[in-house]
Amino acid sequence: MDSIAINISNELEKTQHEFWNISHQTAEFISMLIKISNVKNVLEIGTSNGYSTLWIADALKQAGFSGHLTTIEFYEKRQCIARENIEKCGLSDYVTFRQGRALDILANLDFIPDMVFIDANKSEYIQYFNLLKDKLPKGAIILADNVISHAAKVADFLDEIKNDIRYQSQVLDLPAGLLMALKLI
Ligand SMILES: C[S@@+](CC[C@H](N)C(=O)[O-])C[C@H]1O[C@@H](n2cnc3c(N)ncnc32)[C@H](O)[C@@H]1O
Repeated sequence: MDSIAINISNELEKTQHEFWNISHQTAEFISMLIKISNVKNVLEIGTSNGYSTLWIADALKQAGFSGHLTTIEFYEKRQCIARENIEKCGLSDYVTFRQGRALDILANLDFIPDMVFIDANKSEYIQYFNLLKDKLPKGAIILADNVISHAAKVADFLDEIKNDIRYQSQVLDLPAGLLMALKLI
């Protein structure tokens, strides 16, 4: 990460609770995973002010595999803040911003992601998964934040993904709890 991105990341961490950002540890983990996994098309559901977006876009840039991130946010104001943050970091070429309801955008998705990061409405996680699970290719990775902090709200999603034999999954003991799943077939 260059010094501008580090400064902006540090600034955003000061308002982490206001914008419901992932933890620094979770950001580091996702960044490393992108660099070792050769992903090309990342989909983020829940942009907020662009903290995780920054980390994902920066990892794609550093990985050097021509990867791209598409990120979805319902609120225009938050998306504008995220756009500004990504522009300041010089990462705009790596990110496409989509504004609207995640379920509508997922139902009409015009590309196939090989990594999905779920971090929007916790009660909708199961619907995001149901819209994506058949379309994702073998080797695709799903990450979902807050599976420990919001365990009750995501219980149906966790049951569904754990009972789907096409997916191998594990809850990682990062702050808030991060589910990682790999599509096997
Ligand atoms: C937990 S925050 C995302 C934080 C961000 N991933 C980060 O770590 O920097 C969740 C975001 O998802 C957005 N959101 C919630 N429900 C949504 C929906 N149904 N469609 C699109 N965006 C949604 C909220 O407005 C909020 O900004």
